[in-house]
Amino acid sequence: MPPERIYQGTGPGPITPDGCAVDYYAMLTPDGEPEIVHAAIPEGAAILELGAGAGRITHALLALGHEVVAVDESPEMLAHINGAETVLSPIQDLSLSRTFDVVLLMSYVIDTADDDLCRAFLRTCRRHVAPDGCVILQRQPPEWYDTVEPSERHRDGRVIRMTDVSRPEPDLLAATMEYVVGDRRWTHTYVSRRRTDARFEELLCEAGLAMEGFLHGDRRWVRAVAA
Ligand SMILES: C[S@@+](CC[C@H](N)C(=O)[O-])C[C@H]1O[C@@H](n2cnc3c(N)ncnc32)[C@H](O)[C@@H]1O
Repeated sequence: MPPERIYQGTGPGPITPDGCAVDYYAMLTPDGEPEIVHAAIPEGAAILELGAGAGRITHALLALGHEVVAVDESPEMLAHINGAETVLSPIQDLSLSRTFDVVLLMSYVIDTADDDLCRAFLRTCRRHVAPDGCVILQRQPPEWYDTVEPSERHRDGRVIRMTDVSRPEPDLLAATMEYVVGDRRWTHTYVSRRRTDARFEELLCEAGLAMEGFLHGDRRWVRAVAA
C-alpha cells in the first residue's frame, strides 16, 4: 500500500510526512511509557529512540538517567528536543556508526500497513542494537483490531476523538484521530496492519532479531534481541 494512502494529516502548523501535527505533539506529556521502558532496561542504558517526535518520551528518559539519541524525519519535531543528540533521518535509511544498549520504536509506528516499511524499520533496529542489547517496540496487540471502535476522550483540556473507523481488509484498520485544543483542530488519518504474534516473530526473524517476550501483560510492548 503506497504511503500516500496510509497517512494524512490536517490542521494548523507543520504536519509530519506520516500525518502527525507537530504543535499538538509538542504539548503532550508522557503517560507512563518512560517508566515501562526504564524498568525493562539496565540503569543508564544508552537508547536510540526512533520516531522521537517532539521529545515527549525523550525528555523523560533523559531525566531517568539515560543517554538518548533521538531520530525523526521531521525537523520541526526535532526542534523541540533539548538535551539529546538529534538525527534527522527516515528510520528506514538510518545507518549510524554505533550500536546502542536499547533501540526503542514506540507510538505504533511499527504498525504501518506497509509490510516493506515494517521490515525496513526492523532492519534499522537490528543494525543499531548492541550484541547484548535489546529492541523495544510498542505495537497494537492483534485483538485491538477487532475491538476498537469510535470514541471520544477528554484529557488535560484536550478532546481526542477516533472517527471513521473502517476495516478495508480483514487485517487493516483505517481511522481518523481528531484532536481539539481550544479553537485549534487537527486530524490524522492512518491505516494500521494487524500482525499476529506469530507473524511478528516471523518479521523479527527475517530482520535478524528474535522475540524475547512482552514487557506487559497486554502484549503491547515487544522485546526482541539480536538473533
Ligand atoms: C505519533 S508521533 C510519536 C512521537 C513520539 N514517539 C511520542 O510518543 O510522542 C510519530 C513520530 O514518528 C515519526 N516518524 C514516523 N515515521 C517515520 C519514519 N519513517 N522515519 C522517521 N520518523 C518517522 C513522525 O515524524 C513523528 O514524529
